[in-house]
Amino acid sequence: MAGAPTRKKLRSQEWFDNPDNPGMTALYLERYLNFGLTREELQSGKPLIGIAQTGSDLSPCNRHHLQLAKRIRAGIEAAGGVPFEFPCHPIQETGKRPTASLDRNLAYLSLVEVLYGYPLDGVVLTIGCDKTTPALLMAAATVNIPAIALSVGPMLNGWHKGKRTGSGTIVWESRQRLSAGEIDYDEFMEIVASSAPSTGYCNTMGTATTMNSLAEALGMQLPGSAAIPAPYRERGQISYETGKRIVEMVHEDLKPSDIMTREAFENAIVVNSAIGGSTNAPIHLNAIARHLGVPLDNDDWQKVGHKIPLLVNLQPAGEYLGEDYHHAGGVPAVVAELMKAGLLPHPDAVTVNGRSMGENCAGAVNENHDVIRTVAEPLKKEAGFINLKGNLFDSAIMKTSVISEEFRDRYLMNPADPDAFEGKAAVFDGPEDYHARIDDPAEGIDEHTILFMRGAGPVGYPGGAEVVNMQPPAYLIKKGVHSLPCIGDGRQSGTSGTPSILNASPEAAVGGGLALLKTGDRVRIDLKKGTADILISDEELARRRVALNGNGGYHYPKHQTPWQEIQRAMVDQFDQGMVLKPAVKYQDVAHT
Ligand code: FES
Ligand code: MG
Repeated sequence: MAGAPTRKKLRSQEWFDNPDNPGMTALYLERYLNFGLTREELQSGKPLIGIAQTGSDLSPCNRHHLQLAKRIRAGIEAAGGVPFEFPCHPIQETGKRPTASLDRNLAYLSLVEVLYGYPLDGVVLTIGCDKTTPALLMAAATVNIPAIALSVGPMLNGWHKGKRTGSGTIVWESRQRLSAGEIDYDEFMEIVASSAPSTGYCNTMGTATTMNSLAEALGMQLPGSAAIPAPYRERGQISYETGKRIVEMVHEDLKPSDIMTREAFENAIVVNSAIGGSTNAPIHLNAIARHLGVPLDNDDWQKVGHKIPLLVNLQPAGEYLGEDYHHAGGVPAVVAELMKAGLLPHPDAVTVNGRSMGENCAGAVNENHDVIRTVAEPLKKEAGFINLKGNLFDSAIMKTSVISEEFRDRYLMNPADPDAFEGKAAVFDGPEDYHARIDDPAEGIDEHTILFMRGAGPVGYPGGAEVVNMQPPAYLIKKGVHSLPCIGDGRQSGTSGTPSILNASPEAAVGGGLALLKTGDRVRIDLKKGTADILISDEELARRRVALNGNGGYHYPKHQTPWQEIQRAMVDQFDQGMVLKPAVKYQDVAHT
């Protein structure tokens, strides 16, 4: 939808076409001419479009963007723009120590600086692997130049012995089979490798498929773009369309703040429930919202999203994978099902193509009602999160739809009160402590234990570790106990289906209630009241607080790199989006 130019002069012309300061203009210009660009391209008011490239050899999930960028460039040029591709800090979820999420804010910072400091009129955000999506959207939010996201697309479906093998999910399953002695190390490796058959991001409904779907639900991607598998022809074609569209967006001056409104975030929360999205989504969406100055918190997630049904039948909650999601119709088909039931709160929210979410999705056909269910026949009724509070923390997220009958039978104290559970705590300080102690029968972990992981939040384990989904001791798995409830101040992989209470804020490392918990304490969770408490007196709690402070607070491992120290000094808690506190006051920086 090409509109009339609304800005007389493009931002890039402040660098490249400023006759009032010819010396400076020449200096800005000359090095961009020396690789073959012409003055006509740089000075005549053609939009200069950044391609924020997240693909590299270090980032296999996003590596296909190196190919797709050729199609993005072709689209930009066809629409009269000039492409400028540049690298982003790599963030590979599976490869980065201590955790990829430590780098989300680093990639954010560096992209803000690039978008602010160079002559770019708009930007294509190449998203994919888990943290690349929020990092790039956060930066676009802060700078607020026209921006459009492009998913790299999921991998093809994985197969092993005639069964679908899904990224991450198969690791958790096969790890249990390895512990139980059903398969050996080589077979374990072979099964896991089968789940990653092509270029692209995780083919399950993990954090990557979640965040790419939500980028579309927020209105930041072309309709249908999120679910197209990476190797498919349509992936190249939508890359071209994305390149064309960003040039038009510059002429229309359609900015992230016009698209990512409070209404758009509410739409995204509803879509997150319907797709069975990752518990990482609240952290990232709250972060993007904070950088835009849009109020959003975990109470909003419960209020807007909890009652929404689960429609998308993808692993880990269901059975299918990314190719099936695409063939069934992807995000537009999910939104269409929600709209038919009147569950999309804001069909009028504008999207990158200039049309509304409702206009984009109303006619979308659901091609497979087993992969994308209707609201009348969902996989689960209330698929969203609840936000728990108590003396353990001020906020923690739980996906109640993963609570099994087995869980209810083991922890339910009073059949007349089926939403309240009790168990005894086994407390671990970080993943290393967990691995060292979990299988030791002397720990006394049984089928009524609740596993606690602390020291795993944004400060304790810088960036917040994905370690709250803990498997039970091998001796319990052999007895048929496949999961124990887990609670912690870290995160959980979106590909895991363990019933967990996650992202507890404030974390132990900054003095949250988890730091006062002891192994053997009884803990009560009340889902109806939304509470999570250690069952000890206030006096005992106060005594433990004094003892903790006397001991210099909760101890966590030392910094290993300069960035870890900087991030720990400035980072906010999970419920606040884990943003860098000093960064949120910088909004709309391209225009101030
Ligand atoms: Fe990169 Fe899952 S590890 S998308
Ligand atoms: Mg992950």
